[in-house]
Amino acid sequence: MSTAKQRLMVALDVPTASEAQKWVRELSGIAGVFKVGLELFVAQGPGIVKTLKQAGAAAIFLDLKLHDIPATMRAAAKQAAELGVDFLTCHCEQAGIFKGLDLGQTKLLAVTVLTSLEAPDLARMGYAPELANPAKLAQLRAELALEAGCHGVVCSGHEAAGMRGLLGGSALIVCPGIRPAAAELHDQKRVMTPRQAILAGASHIVVGRPILQAENPAAAALAIVKELQQADR
Ligand code: C5P
Repeated sequence: MSTAKQRLMVALDVPTASEAQKWVRELSGIAGVFKVGLELFVAQGPGIVKTLKQAGAAAIFLDLKLHDIPATMRAAAKQAAELGVDFLTCHCEQAGIFKGLDLGQTKLLAVTVLTSLEAPDLARMGYAPELANPAKLAQLRAELALEAGCHGVVCSGHEAAGMRGLLGGSALIVCPGIRPAAAELHDQKRVMTPRQAILAGASHIVVGRPILQAENPAAAALAIVKELQQADR
């Protein structure tokens, strides 16, 4: 599989297994990873992972954003690994919690700071002024996440360059909020094009509506993969 194809993660933000299967069948020749979010997982249950693999998904990204005490996080991560998912998200604020845990092929990605949070939200949550800064807090949490045994982070493309410098060349840096030039923004604000994100240091990009709502979804996905190939050269 080409590197560009492996870098594209398609967000299956749909509620039914039949819609998700349809997208996997249509796009699995173009994109390497399919993301199952809370909506699809809650609606369809763990069996959706096997269903989508059988439909042709080369890799599954289970975006559950786990957040709990260490014992529960470890147990939940282990169960997700047994489902055969390739990527799993968690919130990770405790160093060492995944150390020594054998998750097989499953790579843990830490959500640093949700992109829906801005400085005033962090201040209201009790962060002191020097930490009520999403980019700064994201960097501190990214260091903790790697110490915790995570393989990488999910962050805005605007933070990718800083994260790459901080975490080194082998960390996974996964960026949502991607919009091809001239595409509609929907509810995303701080967006980047696929090319900009890869050049900034992203290892993977997450794209949902710009593909799923395109007039020709396969052509839209292919155009993104071609842009990623050019950025890789
Ligand atoms: O449709 P769109 O390309 O905006 O979809 C982005 C996907 O990435 C959604 O599934 C959303 O849940 C996810 N995501 C995000 N921002 C984050 C983390 C995940 O948009 N910070």
